Amino acid sequence: MPTPSLIDGYRKFREKYKSDHEVFDRLADEGQDPKVMWIGCSDSRVVPELITGAEPGELFDLRNIANVVPPATSAACATGAAIEYAVIHLGVDHIVVCGHTECGGIAALAAEPDPDVQPHITSWLDLARPAREQALASGVAEEDLYLETIKTNVLIQFDNLRTYPCVAGGERSGTLTIHGWLYDLHTGTIKAYHPESKEWVSIARHSRRAE
Ligand code: CO
Repeated sequence: MPTPSLIDGYRKFREKYKSDHEVFDRLADEGQDPKVMWIGCSDSRVVPELITGAEPGELFDLRNIANVVPPATSAACATGAAIEYAVIHLGVDHIVVCGHTECGGIAALAAEPDPDVQPHITSWLDLARPAREQALASGVAEEDLYLETIKTNVLIQFDNLRTYPCVAGGERSGTLTIHGWLYDLHTGTIKAYHPESKEWVSIARHSRRAE
């Protein structure tokens, strides 16, 4: 068994499963109907359900290193398969791409990984490399480059998402909305990108319930 804490956690979950059995029975019997697809980083500190309070059945999760969406033409199809399933089969209304501060995947863009030692990391990070190039070209101060790259990486995924016909079509017909979020590990806050003002604004500002 992996660790005692996981087993303890499982025991607690079993208690919750029994006390909330109607919810779990419904999810099992009726199937999933999430309204939101979450595309986030695999980082163990950025737990979508923890930071959003989402319950089982609410988020269709996709997590990978540095919350990257390979373009539809890419050979890497795991992410695309999840996107097509979420949009075409589950009919989600929203896709949230959530980056985060202190992202190791983005930090790794500052160095050249050794393809002989870690070929998959090397190939994967090539997909995120345009974010660093754009951030460098923006002329941002050296001390702001890391955060700028993290933000740019989120926004680049908008373009990549739109290379999937189901996403582009959903946006055109108004049934699907893409959101860019940034989770700050130091403050526990989430900011959303506003395309009109090009600013990142706390999502709590737009929801009285969250304030
Ligand atoms: Co990360």
